[in-house]
Amino acid sequence: MVGRQTGISPELTVLLGHDGVSFGRYMEWALYSEQGYYQKRVSLGKQGDFFTAAQFSLFGATLAHYAWDAWLSFGEPQNFQVVELGPGQGELAASLLARLRQLLPQTVNLSYVLVEPSLRLRQLQGQRLQGEKDGVRISWQSPDASLDTVVLANEVLDALPVERVRKTAGGWQWAWVTWNRSQLSLQWRPAPAKLSVAATHWLPIPVDTEAEWCWGYEKLFRSSVCYGRRIHSLWMDYGITREELASGLRPQGTVRGFSHHQLVDPLSTPGEADITADVFWDGAADAARQVGYTTRSLVLQGTFLRNAGLLGVALAESIKKSGLQVTGLSHELAGQVRQLVLPGGMGERFKVLECWRD
Ligand SMILES: C[S@@+](CC[C@H](N)C(=O)[O-])C[C@H]1O[C@@H](n2cnc3c(N)ncnc32)[C@H](O)[C@@H]1O
Repeated sequence: MVGRQTGISPELTVLLGHDGVSFGRYMEWALYSEQGYYQKRVSLGKQGDFFTAAQFSLFGATLAHYAWDAWLSFGEPQNFQVVELGPGQGELAASLLARLRQLLPQTVNLSYVLVEPSLRLRQLQGQRLQGEKDGVRISWQSPDASLDTVVLANEVLDALPVERVRKTAGGWQWAWVTWNRSQLSLQWRPAPAKLSVAATHWLPIPVDTEAEWCWGYEKLFRSSVCYGRRIHSLWMDYGITREELASGLRPQGTVRGFSHHQLVDPLSTPGEADITADVFWDGAADAARQVGYTTRSLVLQGTFLRNAGLLGVALAESIKKSGLQVTGLSHELAGQVRQLVLPGGMGERFKVLECWRD
C-alpha cells in the first residue's frame, strides 16, 4: 500500500527517521499526537467523518436504563458514578444524563466522569454538557474508586492503535511504514518474537492473509477495572471473532481510514483522517478477564438494546413529544430504532461486551 501525499510534517519526518516505524506506532501518531486526527480535526456525525450510535438520542436514553438497573443491583447506593471512556462529542453523555436523572431518585448523588485523551474533544464535551449539569457532578478528573460505578465505552476499542500482521509460510511479518521517494509506503518485515507468539496463539488466519493485533486492550481494561468499587461495564463496537478470522473473512485485515464518510488509505493523509480497525473480540474479552473482570458472552448490539428497553424508551419519547394520543413512533425516532437494531444498520455489525467486577 502506498500513500498519495507528496510531503509530510516535520514531526512525522522525525518520527519516521531513516528506517520508518511499525504501523502501530504510525497509527498512534496519526491519531493521538499533537498533529493527530483526534487532537486536531476530529469531527463526528453528518457534517463530520463518521457516524456513531452516540449521535442517536435513543442510544444514550436506553443505556440510562442499563445504568439504572446496575444502580438497583448495587443495592440503590446514595452515591453513584457513571464513567464514560472516549466520550467523543458528548452526545451519549447528554442523552443518558437527561434520562438517568429522571430514573434515579433526586436524593442520589450522581457523578458523571469523562475519560478523554483529546483536549479538543474535552472542550467539545464541555460545551455539549453545559446544560446537563442539573443535579449531576460532571468532571474530567479521575473517577472515584470508592463508588459503585457503571463504565461505558462506545467505539473506543476500535480507536486504539494496532499492529498489522501477515502470516506467511516462513513465519509472521508485521507492517512497517517508511517515507520513500515522497511517499509513505508499507513494507512487510519479520515480526518481533513477542508479536509472533501472540499472533500464533490468537490469530488463526489462513497463510498469506493479514490481521491486526492490539496491545492496548489490556491497558484500557486495567485502568477501567480500578474506576469503582463494584463495576458494571459495557464495551460496544464493531469487531471480529476468532472463528471469523479462521474462515478467512477479511484476507487483507480490517484497518481502514475514514474522511467525510468515505474510505481512505490510512497512509494518504496522516493526521487528517480517522484510522480504525475491527475489535478482536476474543483478545479484548481475554484482556478484560486477565485484569479481574468477569465477562458475559458477546451480544449483538440490536439484541442488547432491545433487551435493555429501547422500544419502550422510544415510545415514551414519542408520548413526551406528541401526547398520549400518539399512534406510533415519529419518523425520526423510527429511523433511530432502525439504525440501532436492524442488521442493515448497527444492529448486527456492532456487538456488546459486558464485563463486571463485584
Ligand atoms: C471513535 S471515537 C468514539 C467517540 C464516542 N464514544 C462516540 O461513540 O461517538 C473514539 C473515542 O475514544 C477516545 N479514546 C482513544 N483512546 C482512548 C483511551 N485510551 N482512553 C479513553 N478514550 C480514548 C478518542 O479520543 C475518542 O473520544
